[in-house]
Amino acid sequence: MAAVADDSPPSRGRWGRARREACAQGYGGRRSRWGSDAKAEKTSAQEEEDFRPLVLEGGPRPGVGCFLRLRRGLRMPQLGLGSGGLEGREGREAIAAALRAGYRLIDTALYYRTEKEIAAGIRLAGLSRSEVFISTKVLQKAHASNAQVRESLKESLKNLGSNYVDLYLIHNPRAGRIKEVWALLLQLRDEGLARAVGVSNFGIAQLEGLREAGLELPEVNQIEVHCWRQLPEVTAYHERHGIATMTMAPLARGRMFGHSDLAKMAEELGRSEAELAIRWSLQKGFVPIPKSINSRRILQNMADGFDLNQRQMDRIAQLDSGYMSCTMASPCHELAWELVADSIPHPDAWGGNRKGKGRGKHTGSWTDDYQTWW
Ligand SMILES: NC(=O)c1ccc[n+]([C@@H]2O[C@H](COP(=O)([O-])OP(=O)(O)OC[C@H]3O[C@@H](n4cnc5c(N)ncnc54)[C@H](OP(=O)(O)O)[C@@H]3O)[C@@H](O)[C@H]2O)c1
Repeated sequence: MAAVADDSPPSRGRWGRARREACAQGYGGRRSRWGSDAKAEKTSAQEEEDFRPLVLEGGPRPGVGCFLRLRRGLRMPQLGLGSGGLEGREGREAIAAALRAGYRLIDTALYYRTEKEIAAGIRLAGLSRSEVFISTKVLQKAHASNAQVRESLKESLKNLGSNYVDLYLIHNPRAGRIKEVWALLLQLRDEGLARAVGVSNFGIAQLEGLREAGLELPEVNQIEVHCWRQLPEVTAYHERHGIATMTMAPLARGRMFGHSDLAKMAEELGRSEAELAIRWSLQKGFVPIPKSINSRRILQNMADGFDLNQRQMDRIAQLDSGYMSCTMASPCHELAWELVADSIPHPDAWGGNRKGKGRGKHTGSWTDDYQTWW
């Protein structure tokens, strides 16, 4: 959990415990990454010395009005609107409704084709570009070359009518050539085209791969984390390394509503399951980005006006079943680092040849899929 501004620092034992538990689970079978026990102990002691938790600022309670201070100092609003599917007039109006309600972070990707709607939604809400924090993502097929990655950002900037993005993310490790592309993102940041850079759908082995390659770690990892999929070992790793956890699909796309103890809790508290799911995420210090096209739900998803007490947080901790709603994106956090570090993995490695999903025409040939899926 991120520390609230004036909290005392977490106890030194906490990371040790979290890390030991994560190691016991093998980090997806890659325990050897930590080397011998003696080396691990030494690393752990040094890392405990360096541990600086991210800090939440502003607001009476985590949520709208609060900011997470990222590792390099940028302030990121704590609650965002996911914009996947917010296309056309309805999409623009939903974005404007969220901004009028107080949201100040919008998440998109060149792939979603909603960047122009975001620019229009900001105008509709009467705000200026600089008042809104925009995160967008590299087109996955652009990983084929550095020139295409630059082109992807250029196109996003054109769509957004802006000369910078606030946060630029690698969309998915499966896009490949991660070491080169990540180094380029760091360079684009240093050129002033992105205020911060990060990744999405990365697991610990992939983050460790970057670290062992001597590269700076991302400031943000956008992953599927919600009440039913809590990934404690990944979030502990984030906490340890000052990486903000941005939670995509924080409602599990609504697919678990009515199917767990959260429904009972919601009834007892007179709140919706969506409100509980988002408040849990905010109180964990995460940055949830629920998507809705409906203005009533956009307001509801601010999950404001109540707090969950420790007993209720503990009860939600019991819901973790590993349920995954983004079945195309989320499993990629387990792709072997060696497969994605320097080359582009064949789509068979991550199920990219499954029929009937994704954008564009499915032709059956992997090369064509590669062009149309991402
Ligand atoms: N990096 C990645 O690979 C990745 C992958 C997936 C998503 N994302 C990001 O995360 C954002 C959110 O994820 P998501 O859209 O997949 O899932 P989500 O936010 O968990 O759920 C969205 C679904 O829940 C419904 N909903 C929203 N608020 C509700 C409420 N209060 N009560 C009941 N239903 C509600 C929405 O319907 P209505 O719109 O009709 O309200 C929509 O069907 C995306 O928009 C995108 O920005 C990133």
